[in-house]
Amino acid sequence: MAYNLLKGKKGIIFGALDENSIAWKTAERVHAEGGSFVLTNAPIAMRMGQINELAKATGSEIVPADATSEEDLQQLVEKSMEILGGKLDFVLHSIGMSINVRKGRHYTDEKYDFTAKGWDVSALSFHKVMQSLYKADAMNEWGSIVALTYMAAQRTFPDYNDMADNKAYLESVARSFGYFFGKEKKVRVNTISQSPTPTTAGQGVKGFGGFIQYAEKMSPLGNATAQDCADYTVSLFSDLTRKVTMQNLFHDGGFSTTGVSQEVIERFSE
Ligand SMILES: NC(=O)c1ccc[n+]([C@@H]2O[C@H](COP(=O)([O-])OP(=O)(O)OC[C@H]3O[C@@H](n4cnc5c(N)ncnc54)[C@H](O)[C@@H]3O)[C@@H](O)[C@H]2O)c1
Repeated sequence: MAYNLLKGKKGIIFGALDENSIAWKTAERVHAEGGSFVLTNAPIAMRMGQINELAKATGSEIVPADATSEEDLQQLVEKSMEILGGKLDFVLHSIGMSINVRKGRHYTDEKYDFTAKGWDVSALSFHKVMQSLYKADAMNEWGSIVALTYMAAQRTFPDYNDMADNKAYLESVARSFGYFFGKEKKVRVNTISQSPTPTTAGQGVKGFGGFIQYAEKMSPLGNATAQDCADYTVSLFSDLTRKVTMQNLFHDGGFSTTGVSQEVIERFSE
């Protein structure tokens, strides 16, 4: 069902890699709600080509940008305003990558070059995106900026590795930049802390299969899917949430506040 919640709104969506990506589902949902946007991803992800299908289906243009490059980001912001014909109302940062995770380096055996690169891509890039938008005065008043995060920022999940630290930094940047964006430009900044979701980034985490099933059994409403996350993001881009800012918003079917569930107790009583 569509409600025209984003009619006339314009934005940038980072991170649609394939149809499983949370950003992909969000782009489809934003389009259905009447929003228009530029799609962007790292040049290397573009070569896989799938984003072209999404651009076609949503009538969007693609502007490649490495989210760690200030130059790429400045160009992206300028081009997006040109393409969309004015300032922006929403931005989705849906980017994450850890080289330590990819290369199977244990948390107690990090290679710090990998750590630094993963932090730049997954965490500092959110500051870089916002600084580019802020300096270009690219956001309309009452605009909304959202980044995706995971609860490993607050509680320990051993296999989440250095991504836990990256997410803690990302959430802090949302609060810190959210203050200035709110004060100076009346723009809100929030992070959504999403359930485990079967995507390329999610499935890179060791033991993901068992983990997603555990989360499902621990969440009174079950895990939130990528589609559910797209719906929630639309609500945060809409005018219905104008005074929500500098928050880390759990979107996880109740997982984060459940101590134990009946299903999990039963498993251990067998
Ligand atoms: N999948 C999960 O279980 C889960 C749970 C909570 C939060 N998240 C977060 O959701 C977000 C989206 O991830 P996803 O699960 O949809 O996976 P995904 O793999 O589909 O998306 C990750 C995206 O990051 C992009 N990216 C990587 N390096 C980049 C760079 N240098 N510049 C620009 N883009 C770059 C990739 O190309 C890809 O499109 C991430 O922040 C992730 O940490 C995922």
